Amino acid sequence: MNQYDDCWLRYSCVVEGERLDSYRRWCTHAYVAETAPELNAVRDELRRALPELLGTDPHLWQHPPTTVEGFLAIGTPADMEMIAESVPVDVVHDLDDGGFLIRSVSWDGMDCLVVTAPTDRGLVYGTFHLLRLMQIGEPIEELSVREEPAYEHRVLNQWDTPFHRSVERGYGGESIFDWERLPDLRPRYEAYARLLASVGINGIVLNNVNTTKPSRASANDAFEAFEGWQLLESRRLEDLTGLASMFRRYGIRTYLSVNFASPMLVGGLDTADPENPDVRAWWREKVDEIYDLIPDFGGFLVKADSEGQPGPYDYDRDHVAGANAIAAALEPHGGRVWWRAFVYGSHEDRAVQAYETFEPLDGAFADNVTVQIKNGPVDFQPREPVSTLFGAMSETNLGLELQITGEYTGQGVHATYHLPMWKEVLEFDTYADGEDTPVRSLFEDDGAGIVGVGNVGEDHNWTGHYLAQANLYAFGRVVWSPDRSTEAITEEWIHQTFGTDEDVVDTVSEILQHSWEACIDYETGGLGLMHMMHNGEEYLENHYHPSPKEWPGYHGASEDGIGVDRTESGSGYAAQYPPPIADRYNSVRTCPEKYLLFFHHLPWEYELTDGTTVVQRLYDNCFAGVEEIERLRERWHGLDGAIDDRRYRHVAERFDEQLAHAKRWRTVLTSYFYEYSGVPDEQGRIRDE
Ligand code: GCU
Repeated sequence: MNQYDDCWLRYSCVVEGERLDSYRRWCTHAYVAETAPELNAVRDELRRALPELLGTDPHLWQHPPTTVEGFLAIGTPADMEMIAESVPVDVVHDLDDGGFLIRSVSWDGMDCLVVTAPTDRGLVYGTFHLLRLMQIGEPIEELSVREEPAYEHRVLNQWDTPFHRSVERGYGGESIFDWERLPDLRPRYEAYARLLASVGINGIVLNNVNTTKPSRASANDAFEAFEGWQLLESRRLEDLTGLASMFRRYGIRTYLSVNFASPMLVGGLDTADPENPDVRAWWREKVDEIYDLIPDFGGFLVKADSEGQPGPYDYDRDHVAGANAIAAALEPHGGRVWWRAFVYGSHEDRAVQAYETFEPLDGAFADNVTVQIKNGPVDFQPREPVSTLFGAMSETNLGLELQITGEYTGQGVHATYHLPMWKEVLEFDTYADGEDTPVRSLFEDDGAGIVGVGNVGEDHNWTGHYLAQANLYAFGRVVWSPDRSTEAITEEWIHQTFGTDEDVVDTVSEILQHSWEACIDYETGGLGLMHMMHNGEEYLENHYHPSPKEWPGYHGASEDGIGVDRTESGSGYAAQYPPPIADRYNSVRTCPEKYLLFFHHLPWEYELTDGTTVVQRLYDNCFAGVEEIERLRERWHGLDGAIDDRRYRHVAERFDEQLAHAKRWRTVLTSYFYEYSGVPDEQGRIRDE
């Protein structure tokens, strides 16, 4: 058995006959440029993949082979005369960084396949793309592929907690990085880089946004326990250089989460006030030091003034002052600050806070600051309406923060596929620039981008649940190309991961595509309620088990009804949207059912459009969610013998656990709704449990 699972880079030979002949004809001989470290990665990947795909070892040439029938050439036009002569160079140069062409061409009387790009990173993506086509059995005889990433920044936020061997909100095992052993590199890091690069991710923040851990016992004891802030110490930075070079080979820039109070924690100053000249000088010197070690360093991610992390409010400064001070140090090097908009405040309704804090600051952030906003206004719930900030900060570089990991969606025990959720978010019309300004259109300018909180740890299967690998894959693919359909992305993942057998593909695809709605139903009742999870003993732990009594403010259950009034008569959150959306959500008649109780507090027996009462719909959805998991589990059982035993059994066991847990959710929620409403389920199911 491999040391770790290959995920979607299995390269298992799926074709035979003519298709295999044609793969062999084009790819047995490969001529790869030698100019950049990225091309070493390309060559290594060919060496790994081609023997599996072709059933024969490839020959890698340092010049165009003249004695063979057809070959594969990979390089930029500047690297290779043969490429400059056989593809339209202006078309190549028009591509954005990361873009590539794959063309069947004729050169010197010979048919060849060319992968070319304006940058070396594009060659990595082009190579992975070609290998993907072969993994899924596509024809490659007459290729004319032109691809470009939709966004400049496609970043993975790895919430790895240095020196604690853990990943916050990670359910795939302990730390992927062995922090104490750096600068030594483990083969696993490269395997991780390959997975990320193969789906187009071009940046990684190595560590947890929580770089210190506030003690619950005493607010003054703020810097105990988490040591992520130490990564800015000189000895630690030196340790990171090898890791950063390894990622560079795969076109991935390295970033760090940093603590706003680093000038104090690391630098020994007595303040971190962003207006203080010593503080600014400290950041400058620190950043210069980093770029000496890591010349393509990407920049910093900052969580400030939130959940006990220090920030500019400690000095009566606003977020612009805080972000811009650090950005000024990075600017001469081309580095960027990703400044999170995840803040709390004095409001009873947490949803309104981020907008109130950040909207007034629109236009004031430096060019090399990106304001990183979670998809919804609360916190990665199974479903949330899209954050109001996306429609309100047209003069700011925006970053969309998605959660790849399943913090609130079953934590790697439940099979919950997030792509349908992300699609819903990306397609949402923000009206930021009038009608037809969907979320996905907001990150196209330089400086904007999409980031995902990762789900990888050191488990053999990387993500805890084999099917959760699909979330990592889908994140990269949808961020590369948000127009690509859920079906297409899902299917290509299955083809590469489980093969092309139709029954397997249909089954896995159905499971994935139905899993999210099922989770919403049993964890929330499906009408826009949220955060009924238990918060464990440990600081920032848990969010797995049902516990609706713990956080009544999030769902507003009372004897007279349920839901949170976020209209004008309530917290006013709905009014933060531009008028057409605000009107839609403010009115109970036009508010979509899926968000109804997010925006409205309604009597338990309020009648929905089809005549069903609110409480009955909540019951029905909780039951429907569990039934759906039963059905999907059965579907999975149908794959016994059709896929390898290891993965079959793993997922089957997880499904047993998921079903039991979904039932627990259903029992707790329906009993809770019944307890408050006093309205029995029409079908008498609650008492039967
Ligand atoms: C959630 C999550 C925390 C995380 C925080 C954040 O609250 O539970 O683990 O630190 O979000 O996004 O910073």
